[in-house]
Amino acid sequence: MAYLCDQHSQVIVFGNEKGGTGKSTTAMHVVISLLASGARIAVIDLDRRQQTLTRYLENRSSYARKHNLALRCPEVHTLPVSGHPNIAEREQEEAAFLTNFVDRLDPVNDVIVIDCPGSDTPLARLAYALATTLVTPLNDSFVDLDIIAQVDPDTYDVGKLSLYSETIWESRKQRALAGKRGLDWIIMRNRIGTTESKNKRRVDGVLKKLRGRIAFRYVPGLSERVIYRELFPRGLTLVDLIEVGTKLSMSHIAARQELRNLMRNLRLPEKVINQTPRAC
Ligand SMILES: Nc1ncnc2c1ncn2[C@@H]1O[C@H](COP(=O)(O)OP(=O)(O)O)[C@@H](O)[C@H]1O
Ligand SMILES: [Mg+2]
Repeated sequence: MAYLCDQHSQVIVFGNEKGGTGKSTTAMHVVISLLASGARIAVIDLDRRQQTLTRYLENRSSYARKHNLALRCPEVHTLPVSGHPNIAEREQEEAAFLTNFVDRLDPVNDVIVIDCPGSDTPLARLAYALATTLVTPLNDSFVDLDIIAQVDPDTYDVGKLSLYSETIWESRKQRALAGKRGLDWIIMRNRIGTTESKNKRRVDGVLKKLRGRIAFRYVPGLSERVIYRELFPRGLTLVDLIEVGTKLSMSHIAARQELRNLMRNLRLPEKVINQTPRAC
């Protein structure tokens, strides 16, 4: 299994059992930021049903071709589906596909980005065990927070941990047993409203209480901005705006700064993020 051998690359996994929290959008922005800094990247899309990240990257290639643009595009891999009739054997075969992919991609890449589906699947669990960094985007909502822990409705004290936290705990145990370094779990708030609200403060307060208890880093993420939704059909990110001739607004500049902060918060080794960018 890949997580038993020495790993060369950083494996950044975007995971959250809940759909629609911004995993694929954030993954795309991280991938393109890393490419722009010259890192060698491979992408594995584990969301075989929605394939948002794959579709995003396909849109990028088509747009670049159509408009004769030299946009950097990573290699994207979709896992084959096992044809085995038995569920347990199918899961085992697909787990082997994933570990073999990572084993093969590891020596020739600086970073492997894995985008997970918004549900609990054996492959997503395996991805958590393979990860060096797990990024979990969370919207500013107690509904989203409920996948991490339950909260007292009157005091907002943190009660029982929820299933997703248990899943990550299990992955950490597996890594420790395999002698791997600890998983860096980052909970990132996504779609943060720009106006102050009681809800926003309360979610912030609960996450601050929780981070010591279940060992995650809590980082500010991306604000709620329409640009994140608009860029998908062209396969573009905030990183590409200048290259494609967009005049930056104040909102674009603020958004690019948020993305830069997020990249810094990933705490990737200097050698990964400070390389000479390669052409497409
Ligand atoms: N920061 C953001 N601001 C505005 N819309 C966003 C932001 N992040 C994601 N979205 C939108 O939220 C929806 C879900 O995002 P997506 O990345 O597909 O989530 P997931 O991969 O977790 O299912 C999409 O419509 C996407 O365009
Ligand atoms: Mg997705």
